[in-house]
Parts: sequence; structure tokens; C-alpha cells
Amino acid sequence: MEKRSGKELRELFLKFFESKGCKRYKSFSLVPDDPTLLFTIAGMVPFKPYFLGLKTPEMTRATTAQKCVRTNDIENVGRTARHHTFFEMLGNFSFGDYFKKEIIPWAWEFLTEWVGLDPNRLYATVYLDDDEAYNIWHEVVGLPKERIFRLGEDDNFWAAGPVGPCGPCSEIIYDQGEEYSCGKPTCTVGCDCDRYLEIWNLVFMQYNRDKDGNLTPLPKKNIDTGMGLERLASVVQNVPNDFETDLFRPIMEEACKLVHVKYGEDKKKDMAVKVIADHTRAAAFMIADGILPQNDGQGYVLRRIIRRSVRYGRLLGIEKPFLTKLLPSVRASVGDIYTELTEHSATIEQILSTEEERFGKTLAQGTELLDAELAKLANGEVLNGRVAFELYDTFGFPYELTEEICNEHNVTIDKNDFLAALEEQRARARASSKQTKGVISKTVYTELADKTKTTNFVGYTENECEARVVAIIKDGQTVQEATGDCEIVLDKTPFYAEKGGQVGDTGVITAEGLEIKVTNTAYPASGLCAHKGTVKTGTVKVGEVVKASIYVERRAEIRRHHTATHLLQEALTRVLGPHVRQAGSLVTPTFLRFDFNHFAPLTAEQTSEVEQIVYEHVLKAEPVTTEIMSLEDAKKTKARALFDEKYGDTVRVVTAGFDYSCELCGGTHVTNTGEVGLVSIIKEEGIGSGVRRITAVCGKAAQLLIQRSAVAMSFVTSALGTSTDDICDRITEMLEEKRLLENYNKELKIKAALGDILGKIKPVENAKGVDLIIEKFEDISPDMLLIISDRIRQKFPSSIVFLAAVAKENNSAILVAATSEEIAKTGASAGKLLKESALAMGGKGGGRPTSAQGGAKDASKLDEGFAKAREVFKEMMA
Ligand code: SER
Repeated sequence: MEKRSGKELRELFLKFFESKGCKRYKSFSLVPDDPTLLFTIAGMVPFKPYFLGLKTPEMTRATTAQKCVRTNDIENVGRTARHHTFFEMLGNFSFGDYFKKEIIPWAWEFLTEWVGLDPNRLYATVYLDDDEAYNIWHEVVGLPKERIFRLGEDDNFWAAGPVGPCGPCSEIIYDQGEEYSCGKPTCTVGCDCDRYLEIWNLVFMQYNRDKDGNLTPLPKKNIDTGMGLERLASVVQNVPNDFETDLFRPIMEEACKLVHVKYGEDKKKDMAVKVIADHTRAAAFMIADGILPQNDGQGYVLRRIIRRSVRYGRLLGIEKPFLTKLLPSVRASVGDIYTELTEHSATIEQILSTEEERFGKTLAQGTELLDAELAKLANGEVLNGRVAFELYDTFGFPYELTEEICNEHNVTIDKNDFLAALEEQRARARASSKQTKGVISKTVYTELADKTKTTNFVGYTENECEARVVAIIKDGQTVQEATGDCEIVLDKTPFYAEKGGQVGDTGVITAEGLEIKVTNTAYPASGLCAHKGTVKTGTVKVGEVVKASIYVERRAEIRRHHTATHLLQEALTRVLGPHVRQAGSLVTPTFLRFDFNHFAPLTAEQTSEVEQIVYEHVLKAEPVTTEIMSLEDAKKTKARALFDEKYGDTVRVVTAGFDYSCELCGGTHVTNTGEVGLVSIIKEEGIGSGVRRITAVCGKAAQLLIQRSAVAMSFVTSALGTSTDDICDRITEMLEEKRLLENYNKELKIKAALGDILGKIKPVENAKGVDLIIEKFEDISPDMLLIISDRIRQKFPSSIVFLAAVAKENNSAILVAATSEEIAKTGASAGKLLKESALAMGGKGGGRPTSAQGGAKDASKLDEGFAKAREVFKEMMA
């Protein structure tokens, strides 16, 4: 058998199935478009709608090498030869096309003829009553009966989850040889040990399982096969575990180097290295697909595996962050196929290192706490779950990590206690948020919201409409009529009430003899749309029919800024990576603010790139469309939704530019991206850990900005007597001139201060070849005094210099003392000298042996200080 690399095997598989008419697809994301699954766990996941007959495929045969993550056995990763969090699944799929009689002989052909596995080492299993598959194996392939096993549901029935497509399967087993056997007399196909290795699973996808467990036949019979690339590589490369294949070797070698382990010398250390290699590779892929470490969902798995790796690093004595150093080797092993690892390499590195550092800070303390608790327990005893909770809550230990450490000490955790503590914490959080809600719920607004129907919003298409006044609120009470400031509830309105970041509309409500100026529209209680304003003319009365009109120009600007926000989000995702998620927004007529997750300030290049991408789509004048659909249908589009935002059963999907950039959004938008006009980012700042804020303007606000900038520029160019093109050079020149002048000025000041003193200065004391120099100046700044002290020391290299500058204004003194390293080494100290002298004149100060500073409020005692300095000098030099 030819020893092929992982890359060659991947390609061979895809080529083989292409030769059977399958369309080759690039791997889909690790994050499935499927609410029933956390991750893509198998090659078939992205094709689920085709199996279920929900969508018609553009082809009936497909093949992929799919990125997968499985999380059921994370604690086994590193302990066994085959467990991984991330792996690649080689798959081929038939959507109502080929079935058992094709796939079984093809699988045999691929393994024996293309890969060259020894046919005598291959076995097959089939589902108990699957005579059809059994017969194909025996009669068509020619596999002897004693090498075909019938196994039950556990082994030979496959499903992606509790619900969804499923069916009986047939597995191909490779006999690794006796040396891999557990040695039990019962060891045969189906044994859990390493000898009979399952390498390929052929699923005959025939059923759909509903939530009650009922199986209904699918419209068509399908094929879904999956073979772990790492496992196949280990067989072909004849290595005892997946970590020794070329797919892992660069990562393993680098990890060994980083943690100073010689692979193969110590099983425990080998295990730690395997954990680190597997988890770092998985973390890189997850981050590349837009997952961030979090406390739930996919982000929790990411957090768990990063933190597990950090702990294993610590066990090997690695105190400093090291995981990111493995990333180049991850790229070296699979980066040419999965280019996202390179495209997002900066993001991956940043997120990984932040998470590693964060946990690194609390790991030691948490471990100390846990060790102390474990020391109190004997083998087989139970750790109080509240300790696990404290570790989770205060020290960031994922529960499973604490559990794994406990298992290492033969201790279990009382999980109920842990869950109870977690629930108590959640209840406290709920109670505090209810409390605040409770206060609000007492208001007149909620009562009104309960009594009145929801206002019919017609503002997506209308700027004005006729409406009836349903209620009036004045001074916190509902009233039948009002003048002056009040809030008005209508049965129907074109006014958009502040929501989803978009500010409320303003405008007028009028009727015969009535004019109300509306200054804001908001939802003071859920579902209650209140027009806040002032009655300018007449009296507003409940039941009255009025005309409600928004300020059209203002709304037009709001619409522009809202659509610009969508365009910006898409552009940011493209420039910075898929991890960019909206964290908040504000859409007004004059600017927009967009908050999003990102770990570093945007560079000037990134900002311009974002602006440019947005502007290209503005120039293309693409239509902006809105569609109302069910949440289910919306999920099938590529619409972005905010994770924690609540949507009703029907949602509005806004599509703006970029062919497909769409979001679930209730806001008002332009109908064509061209209407947005120029979009300019005016500010970029950090507003919390990992959250950035962009402020931008578009439409008229952008035009105003340009006008203002042009006015300012024209002032600057004329004041500096230069042109716009030369302005930057001119300013650089001027700054340089300013720097030179400042230096020159400083020199002059030094000269003026020193005058001819430098020539006249004489040491006041001398001992053991060291001079003491004491001088007094007037009105000199502290830094100037330091410069002067340097100049004096240049002239008297073997000296201790003690200087005072007296401020004429208040007769205070600043003090400076300095000497060289050599003199300080003999035991003399400028710090001591200054400290004692300052004290003698009623001041204070101090510093290092080579340099010290201080001050005294009253310079009249300066001479006493100087006398003290001489005394200290003599003592020091004695
Ligand atoms: N879906 C099956 C599995 O994961 C075959 O691809 O084993």
C-alpha cells in the first residue's frame, strides 16, 4: 500500500466520488444553519434539507471533506488514540439517487483499489435485519460470510440527533492486527478496543424521526457516508494513533517543543501534548468560523477547550501564554486547504491569546482552592458542588474541567449542588431585573397598554394618515383633553416609535383648530406608542379625528443612516472577520453609532477599506427590499439576527446591497442603496472589553461634514499660504520647525540661567576626589534644573551636585541632587543628601542614590539646607 499523506487521501476521496458523478463542495461552516445542532457534527449536516425533501438540490450526488466538531467526549481527547474535538469527515451523499447496491461496491473499490488496503483485513457490519446490505457485501463484493456481522441499533443505526433524518447503516472495519487487541477471548468485530477499527460508515438514510421518536419513511432513499480523515490516515500511514499522522505531526512537534516534552517518554506528558494539539487546532477552526469564547452555546465549548489546554500547559510547568505559538503549525498542517485559517489569522491569534491570558490569571488561585478542598477528601468521596460553582463563577473553571480534575483524584462532584447554586444565582439576577420592571410596570403607561389596542403603524409606506386619538397622558395621568405638553396615543400612525436603535419620529398632529408639535415618539410600555409633544393651538380631545404627519426630511435622513448601518455591518464583517457581531446601535437623522465585537482598534487602512466597500455598494445603487416572513423561513435566509433580541413569530427581513446582506429588522430604510449617499466614519473607539464603537455620517450630514471640512481646509491653506495638496508636507515642516525652535529656546534658557556661572562654579567641599557642588538659581523649571545639573556634572564628572531654584513669586524652592553611578557605588547617595537637606530647610524630597528631587515652601532657610548638605557629604565621604 502506498503511504499517502492526509492531503493526498482527502484529494483521492473527493476525486473518486467525482468520478462517480458527485459534485464536490468546499467544507461548510462549523456553525450549522440548524437550531437542533450546536456544531456541524457530520458531513451530512449541511445537506439535511435535501434529505428531508424540504429543498430540491441542484444535484443529486455530492461529496465533501467537511470540518466537524463533536463535543460528547471532550475529556477523552488525549486519553485515547482516536478522540478529537475537531476532525475532518470525508463524505459522499445521494439525494434519492444511488443507494446500497452502488455505494457498497464503491466503498470497497475505493478502499482496496484506490487506497490499497489489504482486503483480507476488512470486515463489514450491517443492521440486524438488513439482508439487502448483507447480500450485496457477500454476493456482489464477495466478502466471506464470516467477515460480515449483523449488529443492533447501537452500532448500525445512525441519526444526527434525536430528531431528523436517520437510517440503518453498514460499517467497514479494518483489522489492525493482534498487537492492538485487548486480548480478551471475546475480542472480535464490535469490541471497543483498538484492534477492529471502524473506518467508514455507510448510512442508508431512509427515515425521518420526529420528536416522539416515530420513524416515517423519507420521500426518497438517500445515502450518507462518513469516514474520518485522521483515522484513515493513521491506517494508511501505519501509525498507532491519529496524533502521529502527518495531519497532526507538525502541531505535535511544535507543542512538544513549546512544553519541553519528548514524545513517547512519559504517557501522561504525551496526553497533555495531545490535548493541547487537538484543542488548539479546534479552537483555531472555531474562531475562524466566527465563534467567540462565551458562557453558553458554541462559545462555551470554545472556552472549555481553550481553558482545558491552558491547564494542561500549566501541568507541564508552562506559566506563560503559549497556545498562539502553535497556530503557525496548525496552518502548516491544513492551512492550504482551509484558507480561513490564514485569512483570519490575526483574529484567531488575538482571541486565543486574550482567552488564554484571562484564564491564566485565575487558574493558579482556583487550583489552589480546589487542591485544598481535595486534600480534605479521601478516595471515592464527593466534593460539594458549591465549590465547583465558586470555581466556575469566580475563577472561570468550566464545570467539566473541575470534574476532570476531581476524577484524577478519584473524587466525584455533587452536581445537584452545583446546579442549585447556579439556579440561585440566575434567580437572583431574574429577581433584580423583575424588581426594576416592577417599578415601571406600576406606571400609567402599562395600564394604558393593557387597555388599548396596539397602534397600527403605517409608516413604512405612509408619511401621513388620518387617525383617532385613543388616549392622552398629561402629568402622569390619563386625561380626556389637554393643552400644553402631553403624550398622545393614536389608533393608527406613520410615526416610528424609537426601537432597535432607530430614534423616534417627530412631526405634527393637526385637526381643525388644533396643532400639536410632536418632539418624539416612543414606547413607554410594551406595545404602547406615545407621541410626545406640545399642543400649540387648540385643545386635543380623546376620540377626535386628527391628521398625523411626520417630518419627511428628517425621516429620510434617518432611513439613510439606518441602511448605512446595515451596509457598515456587512463591510466590517468582510474586513475584520466573521466574529463581528452587533452589540448595539443608534440611528439618528444626523449620525449613526454602531457597536460591535472586535478585539482591537481599527487601523486607518481598515477604516478606509470599510468605507470604500460601503461606498461601492452605494454607487451600485442596489435595491433595498423588505419582506415579512415567519421566523422559521427567516432562519433559512442568511439574515443576521441579534442573539439576545426577541423576535415575534413573523419577522421583517431587510436586504440591502451585497446581493444578500440581510438582517431581521423593524426599522425604516431607503429603497435603494444609492439614496444613502456618502458614508463617512468620523470616530472609532473602544467602549468596553472587546467592544468597539463606530460613529459615522451619511446623506446630508456627510455633505455638511464635507462642507465644514472644506471651509476649515480653506482657512488653513490660506493661513499657511499653501495648497491642499501640499498641506501635509507644510504641516510636517512646521512641526519640525517648531521642534527646532523649542530646542533652541531651551538652549537659550539654559545659557541665560547658567550665564557665566559655569565658568565660576567651584566645589564647596571635596573629599576622596569627589567634589560637592552647591548652587542657587532663580525662576527655573524643574526639568531645566535637571538639565543644568547634567551640564555641571559634565564639567565636574566626579561630583555630587546639589541645586536649588527659588521662585520669586512665593519664595519657594525646588531642589535637585545628582551624582554618577560610580560615586553612588562607593556608598554616597544623592537621595540621602537631598532628603536630609530638604528636611533641614523644612521641606521634603528624596530619590535614588544617583538622582533625587524635592522642594521647600520657604526658601529663606535655604542656607540651613546647604549647610546640612555639606555635613551629610562629609559624613558620607568619611
Ligand atoms: N453521518 C454518518 C456519520 O457521521 C455518516 O456520514 O457517521
